[in-house]
Amino acid sequence: MSASRRPAKLQSGPRNIIDLRLGDEARFIRSWLENPLLAGAITPSGRFLARAMAHCVDPHAKGPIVELGPGTGPVTQALLARGVAPERLVLVEYEPSFCHLLEKKFPHVKVVRGDAYRLHETLAGVLDEQPAAVVSSLPLLTKPETTRLSLLRQAFDLMAPEGRFVQFTYGVKSPIPTHLSAGLRFRTQSLAPIWLNLPPARIFVYSQADCTQSVEPRPDVFAKLLRQSRRLGREIRDELEEARARLAPHGSQSSIGAKSRRS
Ligand SMILES: C[S@@+](CC[C@H](N)C(=O)[O-])C[C@H]1O[C@@H](n2cnc3c(N)ncnc32)[C@H](O)[C@@H]1O
Repeated sequence: MSASRRPAKLQSGPRNIIDLRLGDEARFIRSWLENPLLAGAITPSGRFLARAMAHCVDPHAKGPIVELGPGTGPVTQALLARGVAPERLVLVEYEPSFCHLLEKKFPHVKVVRGDAYRLHETLAGVLDEQPAAVVSSLPLLTKPETTRLSLLRQAFDLMAPEGRFVQFTYGVKSPIPTHLSAGLRFRTQSLAPIWLNLPPARIFVYSQADCTQSVEPRPDVFAKLLRQSRRLGREIRDELEEARARLAPHGSQSSIGAKSRRS
């Protein structure tokens, strides 16, 4: 058998063979089964949510973009599609198998294996500029409120003054409570829910108190679909009425209706 025809050599060990066959969904489910509190969700974010997260980042702002809890990379993919250069992305992921996958999927992106809640320590010596944004998919609700607040404080310490901390949640309320802020003054912007994600999710954007820039809300795709289907419904109804009027002999519209009702 010629070398080019030879089947690719599989690495030994059942885990590697399984890995080759698994898609992102399955990898995620496995990670959730192994450690539900770490994974925080049973499937990766859908593309509507990933795009909405990426929309909160200005692709032209100066400095790196730090992503926390990238998992199998749907938000990373959306950030790249938004125009963020791969060299500007720094991914912080705790789960080693996800780190390995991310390195393979995004060869020009920096992947750091570490604990995002110890951000200073994890990113020590990694950044050469202040980040423009921190985009987080961490399951914050599995952590005490003081830990969430500490994460936000560390992110603000690292970022440029106008830097944004972008977070999604499956909850209704902000996952970082303002009543506990203990001296940390910040602004919270809540964006429209992403109904097309399963389960529906909400994005919160946190910025330092004196920052005046806000995220421009995206058109709500769900509301747009609803508007379009209503318009289509009206158009179909008008067409039907017109057709009925054309078919009916002059002045006997109601008799046709009556006839068809009788037959
Ligand atoms: C809800 S998943 C989101 C994954 C992906 N961004 C998405 O949207 O599908 C949370 C991710 O955060 C990672 N994670 C959880 N705790 C972490 C920590 N302390 N430091 C870094 N990553 C963490 C998990 O391994 C998982 O990949």
